[in-house]
Amino acid sequence: MNKNKENYILPEMRREANRSRRNTAAECSRFVMSEEAENLGRGKKYYIRTYGCQANVRDGETMAGMLELMGFVMTESVEEADVLIFNTCAIRQAAEDRVFGEIGSLKSVKARHPGQIICLCGCMAQEEVVVEKILQSYPQVDLVFGTHNLWRLPQLLVKVMTEGERTIEVDSEDGDLIEEMPVRRSASCKGFVHIMYGCDKFCTYCIVPYTRGRERSRRPQDILDEVISLKQQGMKEAVLLGQNVNAYGKDLKIEDGFTKLLESCAETGIERIRFYTSHPRDYSVTTIDAMVRYPNIMKSLHLPVQSGSDEILKRMNRGYTADHFRQLYDEMRAKISDITFTTDLIVGFPSETDEQFEATLDLVDYCQFDMAYSFVYSPRSGTPAAKMADDIPLSVKKERLQILNDRLSAIASKRNEAYVGRTLKVLCEGPSKKNQNVYSGYSEENKLVNFTGPAGLKDRIVDVKIEASHSFSLDGSAL
Ligand code: SAH
Ligand code: SF4
Ligand code: F3S
Repeated sequence: MNKNKENYILPEMRREANRSRRNTAAECSRFVMSEEAENLGRGKKYYIRTYGCQANVRDGETMAGMLELMGFVMTESVEEADVLIFNTCAIRQAAEDRVFGEIGSLKSVKARHPGQIICLCGCMAQEEVVVEKILQSYPQVDLVFGTHNLWRLPQLLVKVMTEGERTIEVDSEDGDLIEEMPVRRSASCKGFVHIMYGCDKFCTYCIVPYTRGRERSRRPQDILDEVISLKQQGMKEAVLLGQNVNAYGKDLKIEDGFTKLLESCAETGIERIRFYTSHPRDYSVTTIDAMVRYPNIMKSLHLPVQSGSDEILKRMNRGYTADHFRQLYDEMRAKISDITFTTDLIVGFPSETDEQFEATLDLVDYCQFDMAYSFVYSPRSGTPAAKMADDIPLSVKKERLQILNDRLSAIASKRNEAYVGRTLKVLCEGPSKKNQNVYSGYSEENKLVNFTGPAGLKDRIVDVKIEASHSFSLDGSAL
């Protein structure tokens, strides 16, 4: 533990890099709220801003649950909040710059609201460089806590609010798995469920293994209990989360653990099950067999490939070749011909040549992705790739991203056209963000559908006739 003279517990990314793999299951503890924290929030408001992936969204829901148990009430207003939480993402530099910009602008808000507590947590908090910068230049931040310290939020707030002590608590090693944490879910039709935490893959560009720690699987029964409780609350969909779900159960010594878990979640009878994210290295075709067997496991697969060049994949430490990925793709299509297939791609990784970028385009053509998240490589301090020369000029990175995105959206448009005239089952999430008169939701195939219909469809699964298609969404009307 790295403590300085103020008794701050500061992050140490190097410890994460040198850690040993977990060969045994993580210990489990049950969450308890201390008496002194219980009424701390009475008459006070909280605001949480979450960035990043769905795992972070789920963590934000746990924090909201803890705060409400302490008596806090949610507000949508930054000005009004007594406790403001920035639940951050460290995946690319741009994400971090935005957070610093926003925290910077809070100085004046806090001046108008004396006693306001500003907290920073999530993946950025696990980085030394971030915490150093906060200590040096952001005196308005009162509390920094890491991803492994999330469950300590009530106790940390006691320290900050009653003792007036600026607090930094960032452990660089995962502790017990904490179960029975309270939760305030942000959606009423679908719920996120962590099945495991952390990542052991150490892709050379990626900061997640350092910010989230070792792979730790939750016990199957704890996961099932959460899925069953979603169903009992009337939720239609459970979304199972892990950085690399196919590694689920390795530490619990369960063979083919993910597929077994998926099947038992399907047996609960909840209407829809999805999962993110799969990794080509640990991926097992038994998962596709489970999709075929259980109609409530949605037929869509997000399988990030990152690059189509073997040399780049090797330098990324991804552990597969482009041909291996093509084989997985062929096998999957052979079993479910109309599966929705999506991916993540990075352009401009150190030393990526034009030919290597072309190999990515070739792979995109081969796999005909329904959708892909595409990124310009962003060096992350402390990762192995950050030591490689970031030698692709920004103009070239941007040009490659544009070419890739044009290719991706042409393929996506073509694939979406095939849905016009068909009727899809859409889980209605409510009015669309852009137009209050139109509903939006996701079909079983994970297509975003905007549609018109009578009042009262929110949270229901609706038959929607598709009338028009775009690159990344479909339009229709409820039948
Ligand atoms: N665990 C998942 C995804 C984690 S992060 C997986 O392995 O696929 C989501 C995506 O962000 C990654 O798939 C990758 O495409 C992108 N990403 C991660 N680190 C990045 C970096 N340093 N620069 C650019 N994109 C990055
Ligand atoms: Fe990052 Fe790779 Fe782990 Fe995904 S599998 S979180 S890209 S290290
Ligand atoms: Fe970002 Fe952390 Fe998720 S870095 S993508 S919030 S695991």
